[in-house]
This record gives sequence, structure tokens and C-alpha cells, in this order.
Amino acid sequence: MTNNPKSKIQNPKSLEDTKLFQDLAARYFLEDYQGQQGFSDMGQLLRAAKRAGLERDKVGLDLACGNGRPGLFIIRRLRCHLAGLDLSAEALAIGQHRAERYALQDYVKYQQADLNQPLPFAAETFDGAIGVEQFDEQARNLENLYREVWRVLKPGGGFAFYFRVSTQPDTPWSRPPAEHSALLQKAGFSQTESFDVTWEFGALLARMQRAYEEKGVLDKLRATLGPDLADSLYNEVQELHNQLNAGGLQRYLFSAKK
Ligand SMILES: C[S@@+](CC[C@H](N)C(=O)[O-])C[C@H]1O[C@@H](n2cnc3c(N)ncnc32)[C@H](O)[C@@H]1O
Repeated sequence: MTNNPKSKIQNPKSLEDTKLFQDLAARYFLEDYQGQQGFSDMGQLLRAAKRAGLERDKVGLDLACGNGRPGLFIIRRLRCHLAGLDLSAEALAIGQHRAERYALQDYVKYQQADLNQPLPFAAETFDGAIGVEQFDEQARNLENLYREVWRVLKPGGGFAFYFRVSTQPDTPWSRPPAEHSALLQKAGFSQTESFDVTWEFGALLARMQRAYEEKGVLDKLRATLGPDLADSLYNEVQELHNQLNAGGLQRYLFSAKK
């Protein structure tokens, strides 16, 4: 399905593929961290996939799949199939390399697409759809996107996603659960439910912050990833953790059925 994203980038690398990250992961339980600048842990990913109805041989859609790590983890555990959709050819290229490394390339198809356009799939293609990090922040018109997700789901298909709610002014993720629920129902979904997963989010952020603050880690990360990316990763974790501790940030799992 992809226009061979591998051809666009040679030897793609991401934070999670560095030896430093793998070493920190082992010591700070960051193997839980399955995102690409996202904060979904393994338990959260499986919960979303199961609420979306994904299981062995089912076919799912991963909205804003990024570099594929969350989706490939879900495939490894559930043996479902996924179509991964993202705007970034570079992230998809990393996903494709990973899928081949894990011998899962027959289970996943990556496609470059913009969530602000009609989804490039026929009606009633998928058994379930997931969005594990921030897909809602990329959508200029969330109601249209929810209508599109509804269209490409089979009858009875599930949709499950995580989103953040911030009390900070002007954040793109300030929609409360009731707003998502209203938009989903307008798009045709029923059985909308939300679950507060803020505690797990906070626990993961706390472990990540401690890992970054271990002596010498930031310097090594700057040398490996470049100072801009290393600093922005650390600053984001620090800022989110502070907001969360001040009670200004929540994370929810949302699910609905077609
Ligand atoms: C924070 S990353 C999360 C990726 C992945 N879901 C994860 O948890 O690892 C957000 C992703 O949204 C993608 N994105 C941004 N704008 C988009 C758009 N308009 N359409 C599709 N994907 C978009 C980015 O390329 C990025 O991969």
C-alpha cells in the first residue's frame, strides 16, 4: 500500500532504536514506553486495541501511526493486521524497516496520508480503528475525521483512542471528553465511553524524567540525536510532568462502536 517509504531514507534511526535508550529502558522500565514522542505504554496499547475489537486475523487502522512501534507491538501480541496511516514519510520508513526486522511486514501496510483529507480507504474496510497518540491534535476538523473513521469501519467495528486534556490556554488538545463524545455521536457512533488513565501517564512520565536526568544521559543523547531533538524530547517530558503534577493535564481512553 505504501509508495515504498524505505526508498526515501537510508538507515533510519529513532530515539527508541539507540543503544542508550535501550539501556535506560531496561533500568527505568521504559520498555513500557512504546510511542514515538507519544506516551502510550504496553498495557494502554493492548487496552485500546481490544476495545477497538482487534484480535487475531482482524484488520485494523492505526491513525497517525508514526514510526510504527505501537502498532507493531499490538500486532506481535494480538496477531491482527494493521494499516498504518501517517503524514510523515520518514516515520513510515522507520516503521517499514522495523516491520521487516521483526518479520511482520505481511501484517502491516503503511500509507502516507493526511488526516485532514478523506481517508484513502473504501467504506467498511476495517474491523477496528485506533489512535494512540495525538491524532486528534492533527485534525483541523475532528467531526469530519470521525465521520471518515465511521465510513471505513465495518458495521459493529470499534474505535478506541487516547487523548489529552489540558487546562493550559491555547493548547490544541483542550477538548473535554464530552466534546469528543458529542462529535462521535454526530458522526454516527454509539456506545461512547471514556476512561481516565492520567495516573498511568504520570507514572510513565516520572520514569522518563528520571532516566533523562541520570548523570551524563542528556549529553549522550545530544551527541546521538543532535542537541535540538534531544533537548526538545527532554523538555516535553519535563513540561508535561509539571503540568500533570499541577493538576492541569489529564489523559483519557475513549471508545465507541459503529
Ligand atoms: C506524537 S506522534 C505519535 C505517533 C504514534 N501514534 C505513536 O504513538 O508513536 C504524532 C504523529 O502524527 C503525525 N501527523 C501529524 N499531522 C498529521 C496529519 N495531518 N495527518 C496524518 N498524520 C499526521 C506525525 O507525523 C506523527 O507521526
